[in-house]
Amino acid sequence: MILLTSPAEMHAWIRSLNGRPTIGFVPTMGALHAGHEALLQQSQSENEATVLSIFVNPTQFNVDADFDAYPRTVDRDLRIAEHHGVDAVYMPSTEAMYPNGWRVFVEPGTASDPMEGGGRPGHFRGVATIVTKLFHAVQPHRAYFGKKDYQQLAVVKQMVAELDMDIEIIGVDTIRHDDGLAMSSRNVRLSEQDRTAAPIIQKSLREARHAVASGLTDARDIEKLISETIGTEPRAKIEYVTVTRARDLARTEYIDETSVVCVAVWFGDVRLIDNIELHLPY
Ligand code: PAJ
Repeated sequence: MILLTSPAEMHAWIRSLNGRPTIGFVPTMGALHAGHEALLQQSQSENEATVLSIFVNPTQFNVDADFDAYPRTVDRDLRIAEHHGVDAVYMPSTEAMYPNGWRVFVEPGTASDPMEGGGRPGHFRGVATIVTKLFHAVQPHRAYFGKKDYQQLAVVKQMVAELDMDIEIIGVDTIRHDDGLAMSSRNVRLSEQDRTAAPIIQKSLREARHAVASGLTDARDIEKLISETIGTEPRAKIEYVTVTRARDLARTEYIDETSVVCVAVWFGDVRLIDNIELHLPY
């Protein structure tokens, strides 16, 4: 496994490869967990080489304290990468990535407007910019993103389509703890009580799926049902519960075969997001 720490090193490595092996790419901010491992496994099974990037990207954090508090576990991450047979780890420093500060940005499309776009201004502009920079460095055939961050996946898909990037974007199902909580690098920051309370999110989404299977199709009723269930947990503070169309994340009145409900919920100063795809029973 080779470690590359600047765009120039990454370019040189790509040029040194014999032939043109298919490259699968898994971009991350490190603090790897089973969710990231699922992306690595799928990339390994579908490509001749896998590149993992670890970079805590300052331009996608709208609160400096959140950037500073982001968990960093590099030694462990490298052991996990080795264990999964990763060919190259791309781990640039902030200086190597942004030697001139940040002056040029990629403006994300309409998929970035609702939900996270409202609560975290500038977040997706930072994501679109860093993902573009990473794609230019790694030049992958396929790139793997978790459905856990459903809106991020939609923003990246829209960007790749509209900017004619020749990269296949693959969405991977969310990996969860046994109690249903979606794995996230942020979970370690939950207090013990909040960690016990947090599975209410997934419970509320599963209830909604059952309600849809029994015939509920009105999006506002589904949002209300989810909000009421999460509201039974006094530690939870809802930021949004939104029924959308999976393709472009537009809010809809009724659910159809491509609907997804996205939620953001605060526990103390930790913000958790989750979602569930809903399918009509007929
Ligand atoms: P990060 O939060 O480290 O996540 C890296 C990838 O892992 C993302 O595609 C995310 O959706 C996926 N992931 C996280 N938790 C998951 C889970 N429980 N199950 C399945 N996949 C999961 O997302 C980012 O980093 C950054 O925004 C990045 C794309 C790297 C740009 O900086």
